[in-house]
Amino acid sequence: MNILVAGGAGFIGSHTCVALIEAGHSVVVADNLCNSSVKALEGVEQITGMKPTFYQIDVTDESAVEAMFSDNRFDGVIHFAGHKAVGESVFEPLKYYQNNVLSTVVLAKACLSHGVNRFVFSSSATVYGANRSPLTEDMPLLPTENPYGETKVMSERILIDTAKAAPTLSVALLRYFNPVGAHESGLIGESSRIEPTNLMPRVILAALGKIQKLMIFGEDYPTSDGTAIRDYIHVMDLAEGHVAAINHPTPGVSITNLGTGKGTSVLELIHAFEKANGVAVPYELTERRPGDLAECYADTQKAKKEFGFSAKRSIMEMCKDAWNFEQKSK
Ligand code: NAD
Ligand code: UD1
Repeated sequence: MNILVAGGAGFIGSHTCVALIEAGHSVVVADNLCNSSVKALEGVEQITGMKPTFYQIDVTDESAVEAMFSDNRFDGVIHFAGHKAVGESVFEPLKYYQNNVLSTVVLAKACLSHGVNRFVFSSSATVYGANRSPLTEDMPLLPTENPYGETKVMSERILIDTAKAAPTLSVALLRYFNPVGAHESGLIGESSRIEPTNLMPRVILAALGKIQKLMIFGEDYPTSDGTAIRDYIHVMDLAEGHVAAINHPTPGVSITNLGTGKGTSVLELIHAFEKANGVAVPYELTERRPGDLAECYADTQKAKKEFGFSAKRSIMEMCKDAWNFEQKSK
C-alpha cells in the first residue's frame, strides 16, 4: 500500500515509516518540521534503503493537503501530526486546539473526497482520565484536565462521527501508553525542540549530567515502592502496532490500546536504565506532580484479538536503545 504518514518526521512517525517500509509498503511523509528535522527522514533512508517522498507542509493547510492528495494515490493515512506538550497546552490552549483538531478535520476531509478508506489516528491513554488500570477500551472517557488531552478526545469524536456518515471509511483510534526507546541502529530516536518533561528524556539528561538530578514526583503512592507506575512501550513495538492496524482495517471505528500491559514504577525504570547502560542516574524523591495518577497501564487483549499485535521488547531494550540514540546523535 501507499501510506501517507502525517507527522512522519517526528518520534513515533519516523519509526513507523521504518516499520511500514520493512512490511513492504511505500511511504509519503507530510510534516512542517515544527518539532522535528529532515535528519529523521535521512535516518529512515539509511535504515531501510528507501527514501520517503517528503512534503514539507502544514496539514492544517487545506489547499496544500488537497494538492498533495491530488498528486498521489493513497491507500491509507496515519495521522501523527500534532503538538504534544501537556504543560504548554495549558498556557497556549488555542495553539493546541487549532493544530491538533484542525489537522484531523482537514486530513479526514481529504480522505473522503479522494476515496481513501483507511485512517489511523494517534490517540493517547490520557483520554481515560482517572479510570482505574488496567484500562480497557470500553471504559467511559473521563476529563483529561488539560487542552492537549481534550484535543485527543475531540479528534476521536470527530473521526467517530465521520465514519458513521461514511460507511466505507475504516478508522483505527490507537491509544498509546508511554512510548520510549529508539530504533536499535541509533539512527532515529526521540528529539524535541522544546525542553522535555517526560520521564525517559529527563532520565537521559540526568545520566548526561545536564541536569543535576532527576526529580522523582511522588514517593507515597500506593504502589510497591511508592513511585508511580506507567506502561512504557518500545517505540518500535508501537510502530509495528500501526502496521498491524493499517493491515487489518475493521468496518467503522476500532479503538485499541497500544501498551505492553505491564506496569513499571519510576524507580524500576531508573534502575533498569542504570543496569542496561552502566551509568548512574542521580535522583531525588520529591512532591507529587499535580494531576498525576498512581497507576496507568493497558489491558492489551483487544490489540491481540483484533490486530494480532503484542509488544515484544523489554524495559532493558527500551533503556538501551534510548541511550544508544543519545550517544550516536551527539
Ligand atoms: P513529535 O512531536 O515527535 O511528532 C509530531 C510530528 O508532527 C512532528 O514531526 C511535527 O513537526 C509534526 N507536526 C505537528 N503539527 C503539524 C502540522 N500541523 N502539520 C505538519 N506536521 C506537523 O511527537 P510524537 O511523540 O511522535 O507523537 C506523535 C503523535 O502521537 C502526536 O499526535 C502525539 O500527540 C501522539 N502521542 C504521543 C505520545 C508520546 O508520548 N510521544 C503519547 C500519546 C500520543
Ligand atoms: C504524560 C502526559 C500524558 C501523555 C503521556 C505519554 C502529563 C501530565 N501527562 O503522562 O498526557 O499521554 O505523558 O506521553 O504530562 N516523572 C518523574 N520525574 C520527571 C518526569 C516524570 O518522576 O522528571 C514521573 C511522572 O510523575 C510519572 C512518570 O514519571 O509518574 C511518567 O511521566 P511522563 O513521562 O511525563 O508520562 P505520564 O505522566 O504518563
